[in-house]
Amino acid sequence: MSQSVTVRVPAKVNVQLAVGAARPDGFHDLANVFLAVGLYDEVTVTPADALRVTCSGPDASQVPLDASNLAARAATALGARHGIAPDVHIHIAKDIPVAGGMAGGSADAAGALLACDALWNTGSTRDELLALCAGLGSDVPFSLVGGAALGVGRGEQLTPVEVGGTFHWVFAVADGGLSTPAVYREFDRLTAGTRVPAPVVSPTLLDALRSGDTAALAGALSNDLQAPALSLRPSLARTLAAGTVAGARAALVSGSGPTTAFLAEDEAAARALADALTASGTCRTARTAVSPAPGATLC
Ligand code: C5P
Repeated sequence: MSQSVTVRVPAKVNVQLAVGAARPDGFHDLANVFLAVGLYDEVTVTPADALRVTCSGPDASQVPLDASNLAARAATALGARHGIAPDVHIHIAKDIPVAGGMAGGSADAAGALLACDALWNTGSTRDELLALCAGLGSDVPFSLVGGAALGVGRGEQLTPVEVGGTFHWVFAVADGGLSTPAVYREFDRLTAGTRVPAPVVSPTLLDALRSGDTAALAGALSNDLQAPALSLRPSLARTLAAGTVAGARAALVSGSGPTTAFLAEDEAAARALADALTASGTCRTARTAVSPAPGATLC
């Protein structure tokens, strides 16, 4: 009998992304406050003759389907740990923008890991899954846990963060992606010769999340990768300006971009803002979503 397992996994936005100097291993120490948002990929694993990946959705053609796909690497890593050949068909129903700074690839990895764990009855503990996630990428552990969390180290060492309300977002999706390593390299170039302070989480930001206060959160958002993302993709400044003119409470680049994130007062304001951003011609499309959202969940 051929059974299959489906897992739903959220996107994220970084409400604070404080970046330190490059470490000897090439990574950067971070104070990274992740917030999961309600845009989801669905990852389905089904027993097969060999490992293969397929993808559906409007941006499916941009997703690599070979062994470099992070979901394939997740299945391989879990299989290797348990002596199981990772002979599964992984199907990704993709709704998270691709290479957009919203952790779509990380979401697929966390989803594949949880789905294969259920399919193979490997019974991994949460800590075992988190360790495998950290080996796959800095953002993968957060995709598993969702909600809101502070990530330190390279972003993989998580502490949960309390969120006292619902936040309404609009995400403007740009044409084409941005390479995360290239954005970090640009950060290094722009900060060369300066003393980069050690990254520290903002207490004001944590208070804003705890109180669920949109105006307070709007005033506390920050992203040290915004300047390098804008340097590599200057047209994003027009998108940020269009959202601000259209009434966004705050506008920032999501993670390493090029997706831009806009905070809105409520659902109606978010819908109006999404319409205005789409009409502005400064982005490919605009999506509304609420946060926080749950982490990877079996369907
Ligand atoms: O961990 P992940 O594979 O997602 O990282 C992708 C790339 O982003 C790294 O190879 C590195 O260039 C950069 N990165 C970094 N510091 C971090 C996280 C990522 O420099 N904390």
